[in-house]
Amino acid sequence: MSTSRIPDAPGRSPMDAAPNRGAPQGTRDATSVGGLDRGAPRVSRDATSDGGLGGRPEPPNKAIDLVSIRGAGSDDAASICTIYNQGIDDRLATLETERRTADERRAWLAARGPRHPVFVAEANGAIVGWASLNVFNPRPAYDHVADLSVYVERAWRGRGIGRRLLSHLVDVGPGFGYHKLVLTAFPFNAPGMALYERLGFRAVGIYREQGLLDGRWVDVIIMERLLA
Ligand SMILES: CC(C)(COP(=O)(O)OP(=O)(O)OC[C@H]1O[C@@H](n2cnc3c(N)ncnc32)[C@H](O)[C@@H]1OP(=O)(O)O)[C@@H](O)C(=O)NCCC(=O)NCCS
Repeated sequence: MSTSRIPDAPGRSPMDAAPNRGAPQGTRDATSVGGLDRGAPRVSRDATSDGGLGGRPEPPNKAIDLVSIRGAGSDDAASICTIYNQGIDDRLATLETERRTADERRAWLAARGPRHPVFVAEANGAIVGWASLNVFNPRPAYDHVADLSVYVERAWRGRGIGRRLLSHLVDVGPGFGYHKLVLTAFPFNAPGMALYERLGFRAVGIYREQGLLDGRWVDVIIMERLLA
């Protein structure tokens, strides 16, 4: 099994200096999306407590210039796996609770059809995030709708990479025949909510107590964005 190569993140960006940004993810105030009450955080966990893979000082904002987006290949499976497992462990991104392996992610990549691509964000020659267009519903009438995923390596969060990846999905979506992107998220995922709002996603509604995560009910918000 190959190992993933993920570089140290650059130093803190100006975003990190903003109020509220220094607190652990999942504990920030997240009160409204699109006018909907998102409720109090149900899960509170320090998503950054293991320090990711970096935190060592380097020039601020370096990441933004260095990051490029490209289609994922099987060689990226280990890095994608590492980043996905961080998201699973955080308990802030997904109702998935079973950690993956690189081999499982390799099979996952291979099984995807041409309209359901995975993209990776690359910095300093290594993968620091990934995003995908997923099957929303297999019925032909839903062919114009794609579900999406976006995950950024812990040490690289808050540096514009999620925005780059999601913007890429929005940009390429029509070329894959999509009219709309949809997603589900935890309303208390403050970085996720901020990202989706910035990119023009609209809250459709909230499933109350939709998931049982570590013995606690969690709400799930549905969001959508029509494409050009
Ligand atoms: C959610 C996630 C993809 C966001 O990616 P990111 O690279 O950290 O976010 P960005 O730096 O691109 O920031 C995007 C916007 O959100 C805002 N934002 C980022 N982190 C934030 C935080 N902790 N609190 C409040 N706003 C935040 C930024 O200000 C930015 O808006 P701006 O460009 O207007 O300043 C990333 O945090 C992540 O991978 N989290 C774990 C996995 C996950 O939750 N995925 C989503 C599942 S639904």
